[in-house]
Amino acid sequence: MTLWPRTLLWRSVLLIAGLLIVAHLAWLQIFRASEVEPRALQAAQQVISVVNLTRAALVTADPARRYALLDDLAEQEGIQVYAGDPDEAVPALPNRPFLRIMAAQLRERLGEQTRLTLEREGISGVWVSFRIDTDEYWVSLPRGRIESNEPLRWIGWGALVLALTVIGAFLVVARINRPLRELTRAAELLGRGTTPTRVTEAGPAEIQTLARAFNQMAADIQRQDEERALLLAGVSHDLRTPLSRIRLALEMLDDRGAADLKAGVAQDIGDIDTAIGQFLDFARPIDAEQMLGKADLNALAQAVVERYTRNARHVVLHAGTPAPQALRTQAVQRLLANLIDNALHHGAGPVEVVTASDGNINRIEVLDRGPGIPPEDAARMLQPFTRMNSARSTSGTGLGLAIVDRIAKLHGGQVQLLPRQGGGLRARVELPVA
Ligand SMILES: Nc1ncnc2c1ncn2[C@@H]1O[C@H](COP(=O)(O)OP(=O)(O)OP(=O)(O)O)[C@@H](O)[C@H]1O
Ligand SMILES: [Mg+2]
Repeated sequence: MTLWPRTLLWRSVLLIAGLLIVAHLAWLQIFRASEVEPRALQAAQQVISVVNLTRAALVTADPARRYALLDDLAEQEGIQVYAGDPDEAVPALPNRPFLRIMAAQLRERLGEQTRLTLEREGISGVWVSFRIDTDEYWVSLPRGRIESNEPLRWIGWGALVLALTVIGAFLVVARINRPLRELTRAAELLGRGTTPTRVTEAGPAEIQTLARAFNQMAADIQRQDEERALLLAGVSHDLRTPLSRIRLALEMLDDRGAADLKAGVAQDIGDIDTAIGQFLDFARPIDAEQMLGKADLNALAQAVVERYTRNARHVVLHAGTPAPQALRTQAVQRLLANLIDNALHHGAGPVEVVTASDGNINRIEVLDRGPGIPPEDAARMLQPFTRMNSARSTSGTGLGLAIVDRIAKLHGGQVQLLPRQGGGLRARVELPVA
């Protein structure tokens, strides 16, 4: 599994968010680098004033008043003063630019021996040493006096702005993506063989151009479909009329001999007629027929099977309990008839039609006991004009299974040509109910 999202929307949002975060971090770094020095110098200045004042007070105060003075400083300013020892070791300063700059400034202004630490004798605070003659003293200030949480606040605001920008980016990208989604849906419909409604030609120029080109293409395809149907209707009319005339003439010929020849010609005429029918079915715009809201697959199969039994063809229906579903009933009847024709023509009896359902998917199967189709040829047989070599000697256009496949796909379903246990073909069509 990869974490990289598949959709354009999330990829764009992630990329923009990534860029924003990098830019924000860069800015934060620049800000911190340029802000730390003035802040450290300012804090140092404060500490220097405190130390200078304290030292001056201690030096000039009346010795008897010294303790009272130190108490006052501690109580009112939080400033504590302790006597220290120049040899005393104190914890080293953490290595932070702010403290480094501050320590350097203190040493520069208060003398080289000035020491700065954040902890002395286990007490946390800003500790600064100073000298009176050779004695060392320590002043301690509350850490809050010099260390503000300013940077933290900046980071907080930065994060908030970042979050808002990412949400904004999401909305913008989603908006740009919307027409693309519409286009994808329309393209999918077109791929399934239905004519999609026109997509809206709005939004950014590129998308507009794309939508216009798509609409143009869909319209062209539809026009070509219509032209093809018209052409085939014309051809079939022009061929079928003389064919019927020939058939009639053949029947009126008196019976003097040549009965075999007549039967042969009649057979040929029948074959040509069937072929024209297949061409027509294949060329017909398949989504022309309206969907029937709640069709009963059993009733539909029953109607088709009866057509065969009336003509003394042996076809049996095993009706299951398929759920009512939306279907183009004429198209599905044509699908079933093609499968039964194949079973009778290329397979061998008994021919069985089975309906079944697993709730979400209705299934209709046509089974026979003929030679079947090897699994490696099954997918190829669904292509138009493909036939097995064994079928070359018989009549047929190779369009039947292509028509079956198209009608199944039009209903969101699929066709499988499976080997049947004990020999024969199991042609299975699955039609999703929803
Ligand atoms: N039930 C079957 N048993 C064995 N082979 C089959 C069966 N159904 C189809 N085939 C093979 O698949 C090929 C393609 O079938 P398809 O229905 O597309 O064309 P066709 O039957 O030859 O012609 P058409 O259906 O257009 O008259 C057939 O020529 C045949 O070789
Ligand atoms: Mg066929």
